[in-house]
Amino acid sequence: MFEKNTSEQTAVSIRHLSKSFDGVEVLRDVDLEVREGDVVTILGSSGSGKSTLLRCINWLEQPDRGSIHIGGQRIGVNDAGRPMPVRELAKVRARTGMVFQSFNLWPHLNVLHNITEAPIHVLGKSKAEAEAHARELLEKVGMSPKADAYPNTLSGGQKQRVAIARALAMQPEVMLFDEPTSALDPELVGEVLAVIKDLSAEGYTMIVVTHEMAFSRAVSDKVVFLDKGLIIEQADPETFFTNPSTERVRKFLEREES
Ligand SMILES: Nc1ncnc2c1ncn2[C@@H]1O[C@H](COP(=O)(O)OP(=O)(O)OP(=O)(O)O)[C@@H](O)[C@H]1O
Ligand SMILES: [Mg+2]
Repeated sequence: MFEKNTSEQTAVSIRHLSKSFDGVEVLRDVDLEVREGDVVTILGSSGSGKSTLLRCINWLEQPDRGSIHIGGQRIGVNDAGRPMPVRELAKVRARTGMVFQSFNLWPHLNVLHNITEAPIHVLGKSKAEAEAHARELLEKVGMSPKADAYPNTLSGGQKQRVAIARALAMQPEVMLFDEPTSALDPELVGEVLAVIKDLSAEGYTMIVVTHEMAFSRAVSDKVVFLDKGLIIEQADPETFFTNPSTERVRKFLEREES
């Protein structure tokens, strides 16, 4: 385990990001800085634009305006202001790893092969190297005993822990989580949040969309609140949860507590 990174390097920088669907602006002039080693949680009501923001960061959605830099490199648009060639785009996208609500494991591959598939075929790792790394990652997420199991034999919490290991296997600089526990039975939420907490202690840079308030409070360096596509608050968790500056957030927190 390495020390939590306290450097001031910027991992993700988002400037003036806007995105519309069918004429409706779902992200409005979003500015966000994420430092290396930081955990940023994104909160907000359904439809506020949380997933769209994450999906813009790895170019699953293309923003209409604004810029996103990951590790200092702009995604999607090259220096000449043109759309990036596919290969260059793939390289920048690989700086991020995404974990979805719905796991998306490959059903025909066992746990180990779910994790080694992309490192072998995309990163060009040898089978032995990819498997050794996969086993380390399975250890990290507490899934070593299930290396040979197939996804349909796993609980939701176990599937999600494998999905996290699979994303980590690509050695991304930034992990993106879109409501990683919201498809889970309540008793399985804790095991997945514990893994994400461990990763934060190891210094991984993470952006996590979540509805888990206690988790957000415990793990975040910064909490961001989206309301109808606008960031209306960004604060350290203590300030956010005990002394929010907007009525909107106060109402949201009251509702979450009840
Ligand atoms: N591909 C799309 N085409 C059209 N509209 C979309 C698309 N993706 C998202 N939207 C709309 O954009 C808005 C923001 O959606 P988004 O999924 O980002 O919200 P969210 O905050 O993630 O919500 P939830 O908490 O329900 O996941 C919503 O009104 C949604 O209907
Ligand atoms: Mg969403």
